[in-house]
Amino acid sequence: MSKSRVSRRQFLNYTLMGVGGFMASGMLMPMIRFAVDPVLEAGAAGDYIPTSQKVSELTEEPVRVDFTYDQVDGWYESEVTGTAWVYKEGNQIVALSPVCKHLGCTVNWASDKEHPHQFYCPCHGGRYEKNGKNVPGTPPTGPLDEFDVKEQDGLLYLGAAKPNTLV
Ligand code: FES
Repeated sequence: MSKSRVSRRQFLNYTLMGVGGFMASGMLMPMIRFAVDPVLEAGAAGDYIPTSQKVSELTEEPVRVDFTYDQVDGWYESEVTGTAWVYKEGNQIVALSPVCKHLGCTVNWASDKEHPHQFYCPCHGGRYEKNGKNVPGTPPTGPLDEFDVKEQDGLLYLGAAKPNTLV
């Protein structure tokens, strides 16, 4: 028979350490969870945002489509409004970002009388072809980004913006 008996003092120490550790982990776990929660949240990558634009009403002329979505930044959630310039090219739907590749102003379609079939940036006179290609000799150094698109129930859905694949 083993002589390693646990004394009353040791038993009390072990019990107090066990209970103390259990209580400490009960307090710490919610704090740790709260601290890293946004990191653990599933990303919104691949999500599509619905718009009120009917796909059947799109033509070859770019139209401005506004949309809103919830943006979660850490613990701060806000509603963000975005815009896309959308048109049809054959059976393909094209949705371009309005953010100018020079310094980030917003471009408009056909707002420059001298170039009625181009996107125009009023900030420094930047211009883009209809497919988003930046016109050489104007300030922008790259083409407009392009949104992923899909049609659902006749409405246009916009996905993430990505580098232009049309130019
Ligand atoms: S920001 Fe568009 S041309 Fe400068």
